[in-house]
Amino acid sequence: MDSATILAEISRQVIVCEKCALHFSRKKGVPGEGPNRVTVMFIGEGPGFYENEQGRPFVGQAGKLLDELLAKAGLKREEVFITNVVKCRPPGNRDPLPEELAACSSYLDAQIEALQPLVIVTLGRYSMAKFMPNAKISNTHGQAVWVNGKLVVAMYHPAAALHQPSIRPQLEADFARLPEFIKMAKADLHLHSGMNEKPAEPEEKEPPKDQPTQLSLF
Ligand code: URA
Ligand code: SF4
Repeated sequence: MDSATILAEISRQVIVCEKCALHFSRKKGVPGEGPNRVTVMFIGEGPGFYENEQGRPFVGQAGKLLDELLAKAGLKREEVFITNVVKCRPPGNRDPLPEELAACSSYLDAQIEALQPLVIVTLGRYSMAKFMPNAKISNTHGQAVWVNGKLVVAMYHPAAALHQPSIRPQLEADFARLPEFIKMAKADLHLHSGMNEKPAEPEEKEPPKDQPTQLSLF
């Protein structure tokens, strides 16, 4: 299956999903949106009020700020994929619960697998925790680590910058460095994707006669 088909299938499943209790109170599931292959993927926390109404990610106040930050980083919303760690709105915008995160993670995993982003930007502590379980956002934001062949950059959540003005300059500074992270990821991908890992030298040995050499695929 190609990436477009897989992503469409994930979206189709999310909007009817009943794997956790968030489905009781949601209006619309929010699978996420963007092209079928991307250089950069953004992962937020969960849909808020407007996202739940419209079924689209980051369309409220935090989304407006995200659009501004993207523009400053020279990125268009249409060229990145935007989604969340939980696809349905936690009531009253409360934090997602561990069981909700666990129930929803297979959708995000499948999206990452299909999109094969070079850079993943985590927005807020819940998406950061998926890749850096013990990190603290206050000292990890703006830092990048390679996880499974993707450069993961932790950033504050735009909503945090709206509630706490002191965070905004830090978020802006981290976004301003995105072009640099993308460049670095492109330059260093070969070191982290396994592409440069040489296969072990074949042994200088003839295969035993009369026994066909077979490759096992499974
Ligand atoms: N906040 C999020 O984390 N995600 C959205 O989609 C909107 C607001
Ligand atoms: Fe399903 Fe995720 Fe929505 Fe829970 S939050 S109902 S796991 S799509």
